[in-house]
Amino acid sequence: MHRLVKQLTLEEKAKLTVGIDRWQTAAIPRLGIPSIRMNDGPNGVRKEDESVFDEVNGHGSFPATCFPCISALANSWDAQLCRGVAGQLGAQAKALGVNVLLGPGINHKRTPVGGRNFEYFSEDPHLTGELASAYVEGLQETGVACSLKHFYGNNTEYNRFHVNVKMSERARREIYLPAFERVVRGAKPRTVMAAYNRLDGVYCSENERVLNGILRGEWGFEGLVVSDWDAVHDKVASVRAGCDLEMPFRSEETVRAVIQAVQSGALREEALDRCVDRILCLIDDVKDNCQNAAPVDWQGAHRAAVAAAEKCAVLLKNTGGVLPLEGSYCFIGAQARENSYQGGGSSHVNTPFVPNVLAEAEKLTGKRIPFARGYSYAEGGAAEENAALAEEAAALARAHAVAVVFLGYNENVETESRDRADISLPAAQNELVARLCAAGCKVVAVLFTGAPVEMPWAESVQAILQVGLAGEGSGLAAARLLLGLENPSGRLAETYPRRLEDNPSYPYYAADPDVLEYGEGIFTGYRYYVTENVKPLFPFGYGLSYTDFSYGGIAAEEEGGRIRLDVTVRNTGKRAGGTLVQWYVSCPQGAERPAAELKAFSKVYLAAGESAAVRLYVEKSALSRYDEHRGGWAFDEGEYTFSLRSDCFTVIGAAALTLGAEEKTKNLFEEKERRAFAR
Ligand code: GLC
Repeated sequence: MHRLVKQLTLEEKAKLTVGIDRWQTAAIPRLGIPSIRMNDGPNGVRKEDESVFDEVNGHGSFPATCFPCISALANSWDAQLCRGVAGQLGAQAKALGVNVLLGPGINHKRTPVGGRNFEYFSEDPHLTGELASAYVEGLQETGVACSLKHFYGNNTEYNRFHVNVKMSERARREIYLPAFERVVRGAKPRTVMAAYNRLDGVYCSENERVLNGILRGEWGFEGLVVSDWDAVHDKVASVRAGCDLEMPFRSEETVRAVIQAVQSGALREEALDRCVDRILCLIDDVKDNCQNAAPVDWQGAHRAAVAAAEKCAVLLKNTGGVLPLEGSYCFIGAQARENSYQGGGSSHVNTPFVPNVLAEAEKLTGKRIPFARGYSYAEGGAAEENAALAEEAAALARAHAVAVVFLGYNENVETESRDRADISLPAAQNELVARLCAAGCKVVAVLFTGAPVEMPWAESVQAILQVGLAGEGSGLAAARLLLGLENPSGRLAETYPRRLEDNPSYPYYAADPDVLEYGEGIFTGYRYYVTENVKPLFPFGYGLSYTDFSYGGIAAEEEGGRIRLDVTVRNTGKRAGGTLVQWYVSCPQGAERPAAELKAFSKVYLAAGESAAVRLYVEKSALSRYDEHRGGWAFDEGEYTFSLRSDCFTVIGAAALTLGAEEKTKNLFEEKERRAFAR
């Protein structure tokens, strides 16, 4: 217990458990306890500038670098990139005087309409867990604390402050908890943010089973739990449940409620002391982390943002090698001049660098690129305007061999606080693409969206490049990728369904104003599509390159308590490029299990002609399933097939192993302990 706990008065203890404003904790000068500051967000520091306020965007924030959103970083499948970006965020947080950076968000993506899907990693817990762990380590190595959020079940924005999320215990253990567990055990986040929603009827910030039970009791988390902003409904219950810090300040009544509860015996002072202890330990950890912060090289950070964005883009189609661009081409679409590069809400970053693909491409080529705006974002009566713009664009396209059309939403379609109503692009943009496909030229579609969209024109265009919401560097990155100065190497971290109705969570979404039932259970995302053989538009793990790769020496061997997976990858093309080694496991039939599950991956960058031997390991315990009847993990003896895939559907090669059950462990806790470290 922190040495100062016993020196604090009851009132001082209660004060410490509530913020003093939107972003800072209380100070106790009498004992030399300073206030610390926590600010968003996952892809850039949003330190609010109280002197700037407008009705639309609320408070302004100080300028900072806008890196690729988490969903774009996830498409890189590159843990080292996540680590590096987070390190840059830590340096900027320190320079801006921010002790705790409120990110990363790692909630599972169960539906493509999720308003914050741009802000989360993936539909696969293993991918999320590995990338988020690297991010947390990269951030905290700078001395800045992270806040792993939102724990847990905040998978959509649907009635987010109150919705009661219900899921099976198996889905909880196999899908919604593993990424949090992997990061908590492996990367040791200094804080975890409790989610807004209820789980099985109890708000996360007041949920004893969630906080003191699973997070601390099962996983041994020793850091601080902070509520999401205004997420606490019953302050005394939140202290009792292990939610140490309520943010932001709301009223003195909150403090008084804690004092009165202790005085009446309704709240044991030991519970309050435990919260205060964790608050004091966090303050000790971070109170000096911004001192002597190095000045930020903003130009250097911008270049890093460009380089990061280049590695996030996913080449989804490239028929006839229409990319990289050469010869006669034109740019079409308002997004070419200011593409979408981040989402709306608390993660929004104020950067002076606004991406502009057209300007960057003209700088790179040294020539003017013919351009037409193609569509207007104006709501409602823009039909005539859009028709005229489309005709102008079609005329320009007819005069060129290739039309590159840039697509995306205007501000705040992909945003915190509301889900999308569907996954369609604006009708004017889809109509424009159809017009261009009928113009007699080749068409390249470039997307700047943070989540899946339906593409009714996918069969008609010759190429599709998904850049994503990839930050301030996405304009130059897109230009360099389109012109072949950089080779796309991203892979989808979320399935792109042909239509929203194909998504397994669709029947259960918004069926009830107050309850979200996760009726699809563990068959979420590709686990459903592959098992039921429902072909998506573009599958999880999919992505193309400007070069080619071969895979040989595919082998799987049991080695002690783990499986060793080997493959040799060669770049057989004429230019450098990155590819992804992704291993899936198919388990013995019998128990109802997904047809394939990602268990290991590694991003590999190779020069032309270069090859690399890639060896990965999977703990046998990571192959277990959660048995609801036993209330624990079960390992099925039998034949396991380990398949190297180029996406979740496409098998490159496979190896089968017959595996016996592990020596029976003394108790489930140990079994879970071993499983949690699956690499
Ligand atoms: C918001 C978000 C959370 C953010 C916090 C502070 O409502 O849910 O992600 O960190 O409040 O802005």
